[in-house]
Amino acid sequence: GPMVLDALIWIKNKVDSTLTFRRSCREGVCGSCAMNIDGTNWLACTRFVSDTRTRASIYPLNNMRIIKDLVPDLTHAFAQYGLIEPWLKSKTPAPERERLQSPDERRRIDGNWECILCFCCTSGCPSHWWNADRFLGPAVLLQAWRWLVDSRDEGTGERLDALEDPFRLYRCHTILNCTRTCPKGLNPGKSIAGIKKMLLE
Ligand code: SF4
Ligand code: FES
Repeated sequence: GPMVLDALIWIKNKVDSTLTFRRSCREGVCGSCAMNIDGTNWLACTRFVSDTRTRASIYPLNNMRIIKDLVPDLTHAFAQYGLIEPWLKSKTPAPERERLQSPDERRRIDGNWECILCFCCTSGCPSHWWNADRFLGPAVLLQAWRWLVDSRDEGTGERLDALEDPFRLYRCHTILNCTRTCPKGLNPGKSIAGIKKMLLE
């Protein structure tokens, strides 16, 4: 450190106690402190102050209703997340112990389970700016893919049916701002391409 989050806490403690922002883990795993720092969406707790401009520009996430200062309203984002039914769907009775996966099957969800739902990608996606009401956006689509490739999940058909829609999925035009901005180094663009390919197949 110090990180941008440390600077914000310092400002809140020493300069302006009304400054409002979200944070929790300060380790880059809760996704609360996502904001726009010098023009890029990132986590304030993982951006070194030394890597910002001398006069850093800090804004709330773009294209979200702002509750106060750096706090965006995530109600819509989480409602869209709910639409993909992000839980294991299984028709076979639960086994006595855990549902097993081979190491290869487990590896298929790598690059997806690490998503912390910070919505840096969705906030940076021009297609989502224009169609936020109907296009699900990169964060939610990456999560949809996470369940589609999980060998334990048996809801593939209904999940694909729910995504086959001119807006929910196909408003992705592969602009790839999502992949450029993800602070966890994930590739939502690749996950979305995977869904499109699976639908074709
Ligand atoms: Fe955040 Fe990356 Fe997940 Fe998008 S894919 S919500 S940028 S962690
Ligand atoms: Fe949790 Fe930054 S405070 S990701």
